[in-house]
Amino acid sequence: MSNTAKRVTVPAIRAMKSRQRIGMLTAYDYPSAKAVDTAGADIILVGDSLGMVVLGYPDTLSVTVDDMIHHTRAVARGVNHALIVGDMPYLSYHVSIEETVQNAGRFIQAGAHTVKIEGGKPSRIKTIEALIDAEIPVMGHIGLTPQSVNALGGFKVQGKGSDEARRLIEEAIALAAAGCFSLVLECVPTALAAFITERLSIPTIGIGAGPACDGQVLVFHDVLGLYDGMKPKFVRRYAELGEEMQKALTVFLDDIRAGRFPDETTESFHSGTREDLDRLYGSGGVVVPIK
Ligand code: KIV
Repeated sequence: MSNTAKRVTVPAIRAMKSRQRIGMLTAYDYPSAKAVDTAGADIILVGDSLGMVVLGYPDTLSVTVDDMIHHTRAVARGVNHALIVGDMPYLSYHVSIEETVQNAGRFIQAGAHTVKIEGGKPSRIKTIEALIDAEIPVMGHIGLTPQSVNALGGFKVQGKGSDEARRLIEEAIALAAAGCFSLVLECVPTALAAFITERLSIPTIGIGAGPACDGQVLVFHDVLGLYDGMKPKFVRRYAELGEEMQKALTVFLDDIRAGRFPDETTESFHSGTREDLDRLYGSGGVVVPIK
């Protein structure tokens, strides 16, 4: 699909529920956003996963609102078609509702159309209602919420036992009732994701949540083989661009050292001859500048 179709909207994403599978990818800068948009993504998430795949942190907890705004602006410049979701980072929606609305407003002013926040406990529901009241559409995110990595004890599948499954079902229902336009389910068992998907009137978007979700999302660098920090079971690599990049850069540096780059004819500019320059400036040895 090309990206010549008109802009994807929040109501359009809602309307895709059970009709058309939603394709979502992350992007973090102008070229990645342009590539994902041109490929036909419905939603582009400026994910706080950029902390790991772009900024080199071990998790997402060090990412700031300023980091996210910088990357959201770059993504917005590369997108004509997809709905842009800005991922609110750790501590940007945890302190107060006022601060949350202001931080979310910065994402919208940077070019995002909606924001995503993690978690579904009662305090989060109030925050989401305040954002929606401020005309900011919200995508929810439950299951493995990476900003809770310390509380969860690692990047682990969530919702395995019956208590956990019940808690996630209740959170999903509460998030939909609060007005979220869609919900990311990360690392939850397939049957639970299918059950939640059937129960909700909003689309679910899975990452490690099996095939029954209304849509799927993966991280740009994982799909293209550009990140080797960790490879979760749910990732499918469609290319090994990291290896290709390494090969190309090594050959380039070899070419410089062997004198094969640049080529005299095709990669260089010409005006006049060596004799012209000798006539202009003399043909002596090295000229030492006088201080
Ligand atoms: O930050 C991110 O990339 C995400 C997706 C994996 C859902 O939250």
